[in-house]
Amino acid sequence: SAAPLVLGIETSCDETGVGIVRGREVLANTIASSMAEQARYGGVVPEIAARAHLEALRPTLDAALAEAGVGLGDLDAIAVTAGPGLAGALMVGVGAAKGLAAATGLPLHGVNHLVGHVTADLLHARGAEPQPEELPTVALLVSGGHTSLLLVRDLLTDVEPLGETLDDAAGEAFDKTARLLGLPYPGGPSIDAAAADGDPAAIRFPRGLSSGKDRQRHRFDFSFSGLKTAVARHVEAAGDDLRVADVAAGFREAVVDVLVTKALDACAETGVPRLLLGGGVVANRRLRDVAVQRCAAAGVALRIPPFSLCTDNGAMIAGLGARLVAAGVAPSPLGFGVDSTLPV
Ligand code: KG4
Ligand code: ZN
Repeated sequence: SAAPLVLGIETSCDETGVGIVRGREVLANTIASSMAEQARYGGVVPEIAARAHLEALRPTLDAALAEAGVGLGDLDAIAVTAGPGLAGALMVGVGAAKGLAAATGLPLHGVNHLVGHVTADLLHARGAEPQPEELPTVALLVSGGHTSLLLVRDLLTDVEPLGETLDDAAGEAFDKTARLLGLPYPGGPSIDAAAADGDPAAIRFPRGLSSGKDRQRHRFDFSFSGLKTAVARHVEAAGDDLRVADVAAGFREAVVDVLVTKALDACAETGVPRLLLGGGVVANRRLRDVAVQRCAAAGVALRIPPFSLCTDNGAMIAGLGARLVAAGVAPSPLGFGVDSTLPV
């Protein structure tokens, strides 16, 4: 087949991901996570993430090559996440990718992590039929490291940032709030579990940037720090009477409501009747349910890639690299650096 065989390396946060694709077909998608180690600190510690990537990269690369059944000599190109993300973590992946490129003579593409998340939706499993490509789309990317709303007309040439979080990422808000409630890390799954027995209407927590004078200017931006503070105040005031299940349910409802409301507002304002979800927070059951219900009511087609492609992974980076190769885009100059705030 003429589709390019591309290796992708992802180290922007706490997942070490190495993926191999042929065009849009995923041949390997291997992940090592330092989440268990991060759990001791209740969040991602950048230095620990960087060191864990250093230890995990070589075995993850070997596993991916074995899973795909290819050697480095078979590849057409290498792609690596250049940003956004944690600078020290990104540097490990980019350094490794440059070393591989120099040793093999393969072209190297430094790519954007967020555009990688969007690319995930275009990939398909080995032997499966490819999905039709449905662009333009609005994309809501929600993880422990980022919360972004994008308008994607073309993956390579036209990705417009509509909004992002001004403080914590959505997943980070789950993690910090879980800690306030004495629930284990990662906070998303533990709040999801605690919320199952709670009443989401018992406590109404604030929806950040949804009212007041900043409402219009920040209509597609997010803020979760006020919500976190509201939960902290509630916990303090409740004392021994704290009802963890109700707080978890109310908190989750506030996050989910503001995410879905703003994403659908973006669809309405841009006239694009498609919404793509990505990032680890997509595991949230309530987010999925509310997105399904409200998208159906609004006539918006909802797409959620399989979970292994929603969380940070190397296949999405490889997939974006394969697109660049197929489009004849020149590789990155070997001197390129990481950019922790790389724009789309
Ligand atoms: O995409 P991801 O695996 O990568 C990083 O950000 O590193 O996302 C991890 C984040 C964590 O903050 C975690 O708490 C959140 O996704 N998460 C969830 C759920 N499962 C994971 N958030 C809400 N509900 C969940 N069920
Ligand atoms: Zn991500």
